[in-house]
Amino acid sequence: PTAPNGCPVSPRAAAFDPFDGPYQLDPAEALRWSREQEPVFYSPKLGYWVVSRYDDIKAIFRDNLTFSPSIALEKITPASDAALAVLQRYDYGMNRTLVNEDEPAHMARRRELLEAFTPEALEAHAPMVRRLVREKLDAIVDRGRADLVAELFWEVPLTVALHFLGVPEEDMEQLRRFSVAHTLNTWGRPSPEQQVEVAEGVGRFWQYSGQVLKKMQEQPRGHGWMYDMIEKNRQKPDVVTDNYLHSMMMAIIVAAHETTALATANAFRQLLSRPAVWAELCDNPALIPAAAEECLRHSGSVVAWRRIATRDVEVGGVSIPEGGKILMVTASANYDPAHFENPDELDIYRDNAVDHLTFGYGSHQCMGKNLGRMEMRIFLEEFTRRLPHLELEEQEFTFLPNTSFRGPEALWVCWDPAQNPERRDS
Ligand code: HEM
Repeated sequence: PTAPNGCPVSPRAAAFDPFDGPYQLDPAEALRWSREQEPVFYSPKLGYWVVSRYDDIKAIFRDNLTFSPSIALEKITPASDAALAVLQRYDYGMNRTLVNEDEPAHMARRRELLEAFTPEALEAHAPMVRRLVREKLDAIVDRGRADLVAELFWEVPLTVALHFLGVPEEDMEQLRRFSVAHTLNTWGRPSPEQQVEVAEGVGRFWQYSGQVLKKMQEQPRGHGWMYDMIEKNRQKPDVVTDNYLHSMMMAIIVAAHETTALATANAFRQLLSRPAVWAELCDNPALIPAAAEECLRHSGSVVAWRRIATRDVEVGGVSIPEGGKILMVTASANYDPAHFENPDELDIYRDNAVDHLTFGYGSHQCMGKNLGRMEMRIFLEEFTRRLPHLELEEQEFTFLPNTSFRGPEALWVCWDPAQNPERRDS
């Protein structure tokens, strides 16, 4: 096969399939060959240019005029006619939010909406996060065995997200199902039958978001980021537009909770599979923030992000034509030995872990990164204190097949409740 730039496609590039096998198990490992030999390649199966090295990806993030983020939330698998009909029936109109908006509209909007993310504003949420984690821990602490994803890692970040946004904490189970549908719809490769089912979920999520938004618009201004947006929409409707409000309402619920839930599950998996490192955190909780950051580098929850070339351009010596779609595998960049020494190693003392690209980079860099970090830190603080003897069970991990959001669907752990420090102390 030949790439759109006329160059031949290598056999490995031709075989690359992000929806099964090695990439789903470990995207960084699956692209080791690319980092080493062919750092920019065209994937005929995906129809994207795949970029795997740190410097190349950072350069793309840095130039969001040449590399537009407009396709960041596009369906990576084009919808079937049947799925489109379902979405139409729900009047589905998801469009630009922040993450997929071009300049100058993006910066004008982002600047209006920064207040909720000041360090003081975020710190005000910390007691709520801790209370939620403690309540959920109370419920399992005497049990001796639990799936932490089912018991805590979904529900706490979802509750925090809704609280942060000011959205009523209702229909949590339904929201979780909606999120899975949205992820598959945006970053997955559902079969034709699945497409229709997923479209139903996405369509209902769209309607639901619209209803919640309407309810919030009708009542007096409450606390939360969505209320800030509603207010800005009244003051500056050309900057914070109507469609933005509805699209954001749907996108942000996923952006704020699924990312953090998966990142926490990845971090616990990695730390618990290294008992000596876990023991170090239990002995010295001051190491927790650095450990969380290293986990975000080593096993981030967002592993790939997209851009589209707005003109003919070269990336890492390869010419990509205007209109070329690009998949930046940030999980691979985070394992680039040119930037991270011994990248395969989880090293909680690494001094440049924070350079990882799991939150993106540049003018679109994740606005919620410090909220996500705070949640991971509090989870780790509470668990290392109350269940230092936690052990990871032998298990096979499964993942929702998609290009971008990654974390185990379940995480089984066990411990001896008789050894709980709070029992011994009382
Ligand atoms: C953007 C990852 C948590 C809100 C992004 C981007 C990534 C990302 C990769 C795109 C960056 C780019 O294009 O350069 C993550 C991860 C999280 C997390 C890994 C958790 C560990 C959150 C939370 C919130 C949030 C908790 C909200 C409270 C946003 C927003 C944007 C964004 C609003 C769009 C920013 C813009 O385009 O200007 N995030 N995120 N994220 N994230 Fe997060």
